[in-house]
Amino acid sequence: MTRGMFITLEGADGCGKSTQAALLAQALEAAGREVVCLREPGGTPISEKVRALLLDPAHAEMVPECELLLYEASRAQLTRQVIEPALARGAVVLCDRYYDSTYAYQAGGRKLPDDLVNAANALGSCGVAPDRTVVLDLDPALAYARATAGGADRMEAEGLAFQERVRAAYLRLAATEPARVRVVDASGKKDEVAMRVLGAIGDLP
Ligand code: TYD
Repeated sequence: MTRGMFITLEGADGCGKSTQAALLAQALEAAGREVVCLREPGGTPISEKVRALLLDPAHAEMVPECELLLYEASRAQLTRQVIEPALARGAVVLCDRYYDSTYAYQAGGRKLPDDLVNAANALGSCGVAPDRTVVLDLDPALAYARATAGGADRMEAEGLAFQERVRAAYLRLAATEPARVRVVDASGKKDEVAMRVLGAIGDLP
């Protein structure tokens, strides 16, 4: 059986990822593919419980190492329980965030050492890497205002400087892995952005 395709969408909070994930899923389904839409952290009963722990603003005392390991715990469960079986039956897995978020937020935002975060990512992803990663890039001040308009979760409560470090980490990543990671301008109308996203995955088999 042919292996499916693993696509991830990334970006700082408020960049419009969820909207674009839905539009991309529609386009892929219209092309006749089975699409499995997921978000991280989450996607399994265990991972959703870990998500609640991670995002609860009451958990302000959480240390960066605990945070890192919880994201990885959530990911390992999702990867083994959902992503691997979906890829094995030939589906397109479309995941709203994956291990590049950990690099951007826990290495970039939290300033944990890169090598430590990369090692944790290798474990949490069970060695499963995306075929293509689209980073939606938007002016951090605009994205942050959008993300926090209805209140801030524990990560968003870190503020704008944190989001700027997250964005810088994504851009570093794209420069390091240009074959996999593509940056897309996320400004403008959602349909225009959706066309750019399609362009960024157009060369996949
Ligand atoms: P969510 O509400 O899903 O944010 P968004 O809609 O912007 O994707 O919350 C996920 C938050 O967790 C978001 O602030 C990014 C953060 N995060 C990390 O810090 N590390 C990670 O590995 C992942 C997957 C997410």
